[in-house]
Amino acid sequence: MPRTIIEPFRIKSVEPIRVTTREERVRLLEEAKLNPFRLRAEDVLLDFLTDSGTGAMSARQWAAIMEADESYAGARSFYRFEAAVRDLTGYPFVIPTHQGRAAERILFSVAAKAGDVVPSNTHFDTTRANLEYDGVEPADLVIPEGLDPRARHPFKGNVDLARVERLLAEKGDKVPFGMITVTNNSGGGQPVSLENLHAYAGLLHRHGKPLVIDACRFAENAMFVKMREPGQAGRTPKEIAREMFALADGCLMSAKKDGLANIGGFIALRDERWVEAARNLLILTEGFPTYGGLAGRDLEAIAVGLEEVLHEDYLAYRLRTAEYLGEKLLAAGVQIVEPTGGHAVYLDARSFLPHLRPEDYPAWALSLALYLEGGIRGVEIGSVMFGKRLPDGKETHAPMELVRLAFPRRVYTQSHFDFAAETIVEAKARAAEVRGVRIERQSRYLRHFTAELRWA
Ligand code: F0G
Repeated sequence: MPRTIIEPFRIKSVEPIRVTTREERVRLLEEAKLNPFRLRAEDVLLDFLTDSGTGAMSARQWAAIMEADESYAGARSFYRFEAAVRDLTGYPFVIPTHQGRAAERILFSVAAKAGDVVPSNTHFDTTRANLEYDGVEPADLVIPEGLDPRARHPFKGNVDLARVERLLAEKGDKVPFGMITVTNNSGGGQPVSLENLHAYAGLLHRHGKPLVIDACRFAENAMFVKMREPGQAGRTPKEIAREMFALADGCLMSAKKDGLANIGGFIALRDERWVEAARNLLILTEGFPTYGGLAGRDLEAIAVGLEEVLHEDYLAYRLRTAEYLGEKLLAAGVQIVEPTGGHAVYLDARSFLPHLRPEDYPAWALSLALYLEGGIRGVEIGSVMFGKRLPDGKETHAPMELVRLAFPRRVYTQSHFDFAAETIVEAKARAAEVRGVRIERQSRYLRHFTAELRWA
């Protein structure tokens, strides 16, 4: 039996992608003010900016879309969606939102207040920003291995229980709930073990605090548990995912990831405490509780996606994709976050560009170098995304300087990844020429999306 793990699908509908010249890319990047978010997607060859909403849908999803019920209230598509979320999570209260950050904003406004602290392994950028917007402090308490790109720990997304315990002892009255991101996106797409989830939930519950999972990549996390956690190999990803949800009290979901949909999200909760207030806020800004800012067809696509994403052949191929590119890069001496995570490969910009200082934004500079080299678009997860300009003009810097190459689901083939590896290795050969960047204009929240930069 051949050992290659194949794409477990064939392709029925295709889109062309366009090769540009280096001269064109130099000009396009200048026009984009050195910000890859400002590029036109058609000027990108391999778009690894995000795995969010960029996946290919299956024939079953498209069929469900045609069957959708677009009624304003009580649509059949809502009940189908609700049943799929309940079946997966076991949570009875299901509130659709247009995407993950809307779920965050609504839940945080209802369940936290200014002065509170919410622990997590690592809050994703929108999660962090939505908490900060409400005056709530996001506390990132991942285990130390989670911040070391070379540490080969199987569950680098685990939360540091001792630090959570300390937080609860010192400021317990300020903690409305705990969170955990599976997989830990900002920390390298690294998984959280069931053992860690059990212990974290137990600790929070002993202090009377609920646990809310940021569940965007729950299926990838479940597959890592199956592959890496002792005693889990014989279970299905669905059984493992259900256990993850059973340990917690609710979840926030961006269905643009493991919902295999192009848009959508939800809040799902075990008890009624926050439900009424959340639904009232939902009506104010998202829509009626049976559509929450989505079309019936989106609800249908998510209902099918939540089931398909747990297929084991899909998940094996999915995790192998990142591992495959990671192996090629490590063999060529390119340092990445090891072991590879679920949805992305993260390049360590500090070792790629050792001549750049933190104030040169090395990860941002590397993301530009990859575009110039071969039209690849990744995203900086470093000091532009997570650093801050303080009132005295000084900057804080992120703990790691990474470029994330995130993979749209079911979109690119193995030769695309071979091409990506070759491009990155060629960029490495010219690394010494890469200059740092300076920020010319920025906004107060989530500055990376809109910032304008120049070469240092
Ligand atoms: N939580 C995590 C862990 C995420 O990765 C994201 C989005 C969100 C919440 C917010 O969800 O985009 O639907 O509003 N991550 C995307 C990314 C944008 O590229 O990693 P959203």
